[in-house]
Amino acid sequence: MIAPMAEPPASIRPMTHEDMGFVSDIERRSYEYPWSHGVFRDCLLAGYQCIVLDRDERVAGYGILSIAAGEAHILNLCVDPSYRSHGYGERLLDEILFRARAASVREIFLEVRPSNQTALALYRKKGFHIISNRPAYYQAQAGREDAAVLVKKLVSDS
Ligand SMILES: CC(C)(COP(=O)(O)OP(=O)(O)OC[C@H]1O[C@@H](n2cnc3c(N)ncnc32)[C@H](O)[C@@H]1OP(=O)(O)O)[C@@H](O)C(=O)NCCC(=O)NCCS
Repeated sequence: MIAPMAEPPASIRPMTHEDMGFVSDIERRSYEYPWSHGVFRDCLLAGYQCIVLDRDERVAGYGILSIAAGEAHILNLCVDPSYRSHGYGERLLDEILFRARAASVREIFLEVRPSNQTALALYRKKGFHIISNRPAYYQAQAGREDAAVLVKKLVSDS
């Protein structure tokens, strides 16, 4: 009998300025309208919770969370296209939720394109639900695209 191949270990750690090049590269290959290098730098300088997931000794994904006044916003969550469907997006999101709970966050919000069914499936799986629609929030080929606003309450479900 052939033993199944074990997944190489992956680990999550805080993002550093040295990660910026790798993170920006994944960002450019993942989004039609990617964040610039400067936006990531500003997130680090602003003290947002910026994390990366390492696999095979390289950055394979990242997440960015801002926390203020008992609320948190997931500003970015992304996995390198070549490492998707290995559970890494969910691991990054679990870490984000852990950090939000540790900071006594009551509600965690995010915006996502309604066309992004993969991300919506992930967020729904983790207990988020749509609460509203932000009209013309995103750049899009045909003008602008709305954003779906999602929330998850953290206080009573831990
Ligand atoms: C969304 C994203 C982070 C998911 O990362 P991932 O590592 O591929 O996801 P995981 O392997 O952890 O999958 C977790 C869950 O996500 C959903 N999911 C993942 N890939 C999916 C796909 N191709 N189709 C539908 N649902 C999918 C499923 O609910 C899955 O749970 P399951 O395996 O029990 O079915 C990744 O697709 C990505 O980086 N996309 C581009 C950036 C982006 O859109 N970010 C979100 C912005 S708000």
